[in-house]
Amino acid sequence: MTSIAEPVSGYFGQLITFLQGFSTVQLVILALVNIPLFAIAINVLLQLLPQDRSLPPVVFHYIPWFGSAAHYGDNPIKFFFDCREKYGPVFTFVLLGRRVTVALDPAGNNFIMGGKHTVFSAEDAYTHLTTPVFGKDVVYDCPNELLMEQKKFVKFGLSTDNFRAYVGMIEDEVSGFMKNEPSFRVFQANDINEWGSFEAAKTMSEITILTASRTLQGKEVRSKITKEYAAVFNDLDGGFTPLHWMFPNLPLPSYRKRDAAHKKISELYVSIIRNRRENPGQEEEHDMIASLMGQKYRAGRALKDHEIAHIMIALLMAGQHTSSATSSWALLHIADRTDIGEALYEEQVKHFRQPDGSWRTMEYEEIKDLPVMDSVIRETLRIHPPLHSIMRAVREDAVVPQTLASPSEDGQYVIPKGYMVMSSAAVSQIDPMLWKNAQQWDPLRWSDPEGVAAQAYKAYNDADGAKVDFGFGLVSKGTESPYQPFGAGRHRCIGEQFAYLQLSTLIATVIRQVELKLPEGGVPPPNYHTMITLPKTPATILYRRRKFD
Ligand code: HEM
Repeated sequence: MTSIAEPVSGYFGQLITFLQGFSTVQLVILALVNIPLFAIAINVLLQLLPQDRSLPPVVFHYIPWFGSAAHYGDNPIKFFFDCREKYGPVFTFVLLGRRVTVALDPAGNNFIMGGKHTVFSAEDAYTHLTTPVFGKDVVYDCPNELLMEQKKFVKFGLSTDNFRAYVGMIEDEVSGFMKNEPSFRVFQANDINEWGSFEAAKTMSEITILTASRTLQGKEVRSKITKEYAAVFNDLDGGFTPLHWMFPNLPLPSYRKRDAAHKKISELYVSIIRNRRENPGQEEEHDMIASLMGQKYRAGRALKDHEIAHIMIALLMAGQHTSSATSSWALLHIADRTDIGEALYEEQVKHFRQPDGSWRTMEYEEIKDLPVMDSVIRETLRIHPPLHSIMRAVREDAVVPQTLASPSEDGQYVIPKGYMVMSSAAVSQIDPMLWKNAQQWDPLRWSDPEGVAAQAYKAYNDADGAKVDFGFGLVSKGTESPYQPFGAGRHRCIGEQFAYLQLSTLIATVIRQVELKLPEGGVPPPNYHTMITLPKTPATILYRRRKFD
């Protein structure tokens, strides 16, 4: 009788004999080549086995640990849409060893952005990226309740009074830039027939830091930004990338430069604060340092110098790329749609052109009443929200509402503690199931009072009165809206009004003085390899000095 073990031991014996034909070095190489293949095979097999039905479906991937990092990193929006089609609005993907559950659609936005902070934690998700850049004891390096108080302090500084002072300052900076910088050489030559060009992202980044430092950051920072500190700010910025989010501390130059830059900039702010304390009451400052120096925590203590310094760095970083990316995209689209460029110009002429042909500076209140400008900014933020993914770390098992997604009629998904969750308004803002001509940049959609855009905006700003106070004043809930470029819930942006003011003044100042158009090729596609979604380079805009009639 033949045993069924015989052929197996026979094959095994043959395998041993086969392997004996190799040297040790050859065997080690063979093993090294095969271990990854073996790991991939096991990983695939594990995904084909029946899965725990209480866990959201996992996006199929070959390489363990690495998971779907390449697909997500290259084009997160396409990745999300593809996954939604295959797995539904809730799914998990593996991202460099982390398990990340994505919840899409307005219901998904609501689930994550409206979730309790004891369950979905922003600080656990972001602190390893932000703390080395911002510094200790602020934002995500302190309990959430303290962040809420810090947001309240900043909101206090973002007052209407200060905003009124900022319009002229921003106009001044933009005009000064156009008068002096080499990229506007053709404009400076006063030739109304020749077209010049500038690179959108580079130019907007330079203008944004000048305008932000002149207004929020204060005159001392403004005076240093173009000279000795420009390179230091760049080094700090170089520590704010997806790589630094994934690996907070690597022995690489960018990490060392980041740490040195943080120290230097933090010391700069502290020296400004000390100097102001020692020389009080010289002139009224409208900047944020002045405002923060007068604030007290609920516990009764004033902010320490290093806390003020670190909040200032956080504000600089939070506002810089978001605003400069938005103005880059806005000007690219305006240059592409010359009819909208002309409508913007006409709006400026109607309100601010003086009988003698000169321009008058806009009043802050007037900026809020410019429908074309407003629609251009809203539409730009719809198609190009600077942040495509909002992340939280899961601190307690979280049950997914059945109405959002479920494994069966009577079952519910549970996202385990230790996972990350992700929401993406960038998807709901261009979802063809919700928006007509969803991918098309069309500011006019915002003028239809009955349209989807108006409803989404109303839901975002809860015209029906659903306001919540998380500790930094009443904010619209807005978590269910498909449109939420400034986030929603307790982590909602406090820079929204400042950003609108900064963007409107910048665009107005440019459009008053030059016509814009694009070279062949149209608006460039997005580059998702940076933290903030920027246009791929080259993103050149052509300009020509306007002829005044
Ligand atoms: C939060 C977008 C400008 C300060 C946020 C969030 C988004 C956002 C999406 C929510 C992040 C999350 O939930 O994880 C934008 C856009 C801007 C902009 C699109 C410009 C177009 C600014 C400016 C400032 C600022 C100019 C400062 C003056 C903040 C702060 C938070 C925040 C302090 C709160 C973070 C938190 O509570 O966790 N912003 N932002 N932002 N933003 Fe902005």
